Amino acid sequence: MSEKLGFGIIGCGIIADFHANALKELGDEAELIGVCDVVFDAAEKFAKRHGTKAFPSAEALLSCPEINVVNICTPSGYHHFSVIAAAKAGKHIICEKPLAINAQQLDEIEQVCRQAGVTVSVVSQNRYAKSVSQVKQALENGLLGRIVCADIYMKYHRSQEYYDSGSWRGTKRIDGGGALMNQGIHGIDLLLYLAGDIKSVYAVSKTLVRNIEVEDTLSAVVEYKNGATGVIQATTSVYPGYPRRLELNGDKGSVVLDETSIVRWDVCDTADHEDVVMFPSLAHGASTPTAISAEGHIRQISDMINAIKTGKKPLSGLAEGRKAVDVILAIYRSAEEGRPIEL
Ligand SMILES: NC(=O)c1ccc[n+]([C@@H]2O[C@H](COP(=O)([O-])OP(=O)(O)OC[C@H]3O[C@@H](n4cnc5c(N)ncnc54)[C@H](O)[C@@H]3O)[C@@H](O)[C@H]2O)c1
Repeated sequence: MSEKLGFGIIGCGIIADFHANALKELGDEAELIGVCDVVFDAAEKFAKRHGTKAFPSAEALLSCPEINVVNICTPSGYHHFSVIAAAKAGKHIICEKPLAINAQQLDEIEQVCRQAGVTVSVVSQNRYAKSVSQVKQALENGLLGRIVCADIYMKYHRSQEYYDSGSWRGTKRIDGGGALMNQGIHGIDLLLYLAGDIKSVYAVSKTLVRNIEVEDTLSAVVEYKNGATGVIQATTSVYPGYPRRLELNGDKGSVVLDETSIVRWDVCDTADHEDVVMFPSLAHGASTPTAISAEGHIRQISDMINAIKTGKKPLSGLAEGRKAVDVILAIYRSAEEGRPIEL
């Protein structure tokens, strides 16, 4: 395999720019060979902006031998079509979150990707923040002791104009859900990464303010397999929108992050306490979806390049991408049926 990996992007909307810019930053190891979109005009404009080629279709892009990795940036409910086609074409895959929006799509993706033997990375860029690695390390070293509570409070603002800006946004069929499936999934993935697997969930879900099919506000109580308890809150209907707060409390210490910035680090073991470097948060989308930083995507794509070259698993792979959606689907089921759901 030559030094540089060739990339192709399917879907040329808002998030695709972050992928193209990240690939530019990784120019020593990566090259954007071309892009496609169901709207060819969108692909052409995007290609011009990023100095690459517009393919007339996904089939044409997938049959290009210079492309080793495909970045899937289509609306959530369409991810599975592109993931399956890319895997069957033998391409490695970076898929935007959520990996898919229902169990049937997830099963099919898992089966086809496993059979094809391709590497899959599911975007969860916050996992790659330095502060998140620090917290992970602290947990692994037992610095917080036994985890008692692990919570996410995501109080974001998305206007009605945001939901009206794309026919798929806020729909059950293509967005797959609302505040939790689209925005809250980042927090769910961090909880799973840091606090561990979830055993059961009990949720209330509402559409209180926005004119959408799916929830704009949801609260859930969570029990982790390790016995800890937690709260998951996700809304996109409050003004002005605050950074997502992640709280981890153990019997020997507590850590609080605002988005990816550590804002509290209170541990019994003061020797370790003094070693903590406080990294600022990656720019986040609490109030504006496009305000996120490209830094997380750069680190995630770099991790994927390393995974392909070394055969190691990416930090956020197929299993991790699936787990986050499985938790969300269980939370939705709990809210629908009005009872706790075991995972
Ligand atoms: N990681 C993050 O922080 C983050 C942020 C925003 C969006 N996202 C995810 O990225 C995905 C896209 O979101 P967006 O805001 O960029 O959407 P968007 O509507 O701006 O762009 C989607 C693009 O895909 C194209 N498209 C639709 N169906 C297609 C198909 N079958 N083949 C090829 N192109 C197709 C559309 O024409 C459009 O240009 C979503 O799954 C979303 O959840 C992730």
